[in-house]
Amino acid sequence: MRHLISVDDLEDEFITQIYDHADYFKVARKDRGQDWFSCTQALRNQILITDFFEPSTRTRLSFEAAMSYLGGNVIGTENAADFSSIKKGESIYDNFKVISGYGDIIVGRFRQEGEARLAADASEIPLINGGDGKGEHPTQALIDGFIIDRTFPSYDGLTVTFIGDNEHSRTVKSLFKMLSRHNVEMNFLNSPTWKADPTWRLHHGWKGEGTWIRPDTFRGTQEVERTIRNSHVVYMTRNQVERHQNMLEDVAPRFVLDQHYVDMLPDTAIILHPLPRNEELPAAIDADPRARYFEQAHNGLFIRMALLEQLQNG
Ligand code: CP
Repeated sequence: MRHLISVDDLEDEFITQIYDHADYFKVARKDRGQDWFSCTQALRNQILITDFFEPSTRTRLSFEAAMSYLGGNVIGTENAADFSSIKKGESIYDNFKVISGYGDIIVGRFRQEGEARLAADASEIPLINGGDGKGEHPTQALIDGFIIDRTFPSYDGLTVTFIGDNEHSRTVKSLFKMLSRHNVEMNFLNSPTWKADPTWRLHHGWKGEGTWIRPDTFRGTQEVERTIRNSHVVYMTRNQVERHQNMLEDVAPRFVLDQHYVDMLPDTAIILHPLPRNEELPAAIDADPRARYFEQAHNGLFIRMALLEQLQNG
């Protein structure tokens, strides 16, 4: 693989390698022994370039930490829209063509779906898509897939329920694509504008069954409660207001995973969220042992260490 733009670029064997290496890095960091300190030789003298056109906490900082722990260097900008020459009219193509001469690997975050592919076409070094508009976020899918894979003994018969702004969420799309490779049932409690469009499912290759529920029927309906009770994984997302046509109308979440619903979940279920969160996931839920979203975010460091190491040395 030269560039990582979509989950479609990830072969199953490669995903397995990433998860195994992430396990290794996770244990090594906990032990802080020789294994951890020998990591610092892996990407010595290499440079990671981070070129971000949208805000980020986890993706940018965990990639930068990953490269630092691997002994490499990091250059970049967290606000390329204002602080790079894009502000002076430079094209995405020219921007990535030029910066690819300054390092060994790039992570980019983009405002529009499709811009990651355009940047990859320009880049002379491997480019990782750190999220492109409502397009994809393949490294988040690796993080999400990792915690699911390591929590449950098998994908067979697993039920994953996506709750929130599924229409505009790139993390939902990428995880959906990844889980479509397995015998997983997926349910969707959706944003108001998203119709239960079968072409979306077919487009992403999913042949399974699932439930599609509109928000106007949320609270109190038996279908919602049955869906929550039967879920092994609840995957929450915030309203992606920055991608809505009318941002002012869409601030409030249509569904809040409050204690009422958490109490319905099986004891062995897990609650995930790619973060950042808003009101859809109250902080009061954090203490529940099924709330795994901070662990999910922290795993990002190990997944991204594994990815950088595999892409450069694998
Ligand atoms: N999950 C995620 O992509 O978070 P950031 O937007 O903070 O990078």
